[in-house]
Amino acid sequence: MSITTIASAAMLIAVMISLYSIRSNFRLRSSGNMLQLEVGRRIQLEQQLLEKQNYLTAIIQTEPECVKLLSREGLVLDINPAGAALIDAEPAQVRGTCIYSVVAQQDQAHYRALTERVFRGESGILEFQIESPKGRMRWLETHAVPMRNAAGTIIALLGITRDITARKNSDEEVRRHHFELARVCRLVTVNEMAMTLAHELNQPLCAITSYMESLRNMAREAEGTSHERMGEIAGKAAAQAERAGQIIRRVREFASTQESGKLPSHVNSLIQDVISICMAEARQRGVSVLLHLADELPTVLADPILIQQVILNLIRNGIEAMEELPDESGRLLVTTRRTDADTVEVTIADNGCGLPDAGTERAFTPFYTTKPQGMGMGLSISRSIIKAHGGNLRLEADSHSGGTTARFSLPVFLEEPG
Ligand SMILES: Nc1ncnc2c1ncn2[C@@H]1O[C@H](COP(=O)(O)OP(=O)(O)OP(=O)(O)O)[C@@H](O)[C@H]1O
Ligand SMILES: [Mg+2]
Repeated sequence: MSITTIASAAMLIAVMISLYSIRSNFRLRSSGNMLQLEVGRRIQLEQQLLEKQNYLTAIIQTEPECVKLLSREGLVLDINPAGAALIDAEPAQVRGTCIYSVVAQQDQAHYRALTERVFRGESGILEFQIESPKGRMRWLETHAVPMRNAAGTIIALLGITRDITARKNSDEEVRRHHFELARVCRLVTVNEMAMTLAHELNQPLCAITSYMESLRNMAREAEGTSHERMGEIAGKAAAQAERAGQIIRRVREFASTQESGKLPSHVNSLIQDVISICMAEARQRGVSVLLHLADELPTVLADPILIQQVILNLIRNGIEAMEELPDESGRLLVTTRRTDADTVEVTIADNGCGLPDAGTERAFTPFYTTKPQGMGMGLSISRSIIKAHGGNLRLEADSHSGGTTARFSLPVFLEEPG
């Protein structure tokens, strides 16, 4: 091989080497650039991750609810300040301790059951009590979910817990309030029953007294009085005594069950029975009583004695309102009708003094009376009775006569088909 050949070969090799090195250099430079880019991308990613982590940490740290991670055994793996504050501590003091050192004895089994469920992959909610080392009791509500690692394995219980002590206390307050209300209601019922008896028994007792008075007078002047007449009066007294007994029984049953004693009743005949009781009083006060009773009224499901007491109270109010009227000008009109709303309506209208300025509703207030001898219980008792029968009772001013109309309705008794 000649020198020239060697030289040209060497030249070629040199050229090739330099070409190779230029190419490698170029490759090296471009892969260096790529590396740089990759590093930049990673740094950016790490920064983003860090930012995200800071962001999450900030949220958890400032979250007003307790956020904690627990192991299966109940060790506190991590907790935020709000959580630690629930037991008056700092997060560092709580990490690594066992949750069961603060969970109230009676709730520990429930808490363990919840933890087991979470480690089986379920989530759950539990209300429980804790006692802080300083002895402060709190009610908490925790929402627990499984916390998984990248492989999907459950590594902790993630619990978001809130203090519900205030709500529990107010629930307790409401419960106490209801209990107290029920107690007061029972007292009111007893009180109302006593008042009702006192009010309703007044009439038959007065009647009995006056019948007995007549009998005594007759006995004193026995001559000229037929035995039949005395027997008749004694019979009336006995009927009133019987009525008083019925009232006591019925009011007692009404107060205890509000149900018994109701049977399909004809309102017209209840009215006619009552009218015979108060006719003497009406006549004595110069009041004429008119009845406009609808034919073929349907029956109502009613306690006859109690509905009669209502009618009696309203008629007596009407008669009393006409006390100041000139002789024989008092008119009491009692009507019945069936309404479109499938009720039987009874009205008792007078042309008396009219309602007091306090208005119609005030008249229903227990013990409200404008009468010297009044108890102020007649309307309130009557409304309770009508309401217990599913009806309503109200008073209306009658602009035409200047008097008052009392109006009550009772649902028609509809027999069950078949
Ligand atoms: N028809 C009426 N006309 C005018 N005022 C009436 C009428 N009915 C009731 N009031 C008014 O309503 C008040 C309360 O009536 P309510 O029947 O409850 O008690 P009271 O009649 O005063 O006493 P009682 O307990 O003996 O019935 C009456 O005192 C009276 O002022
Ligand atoms: Mg009255």
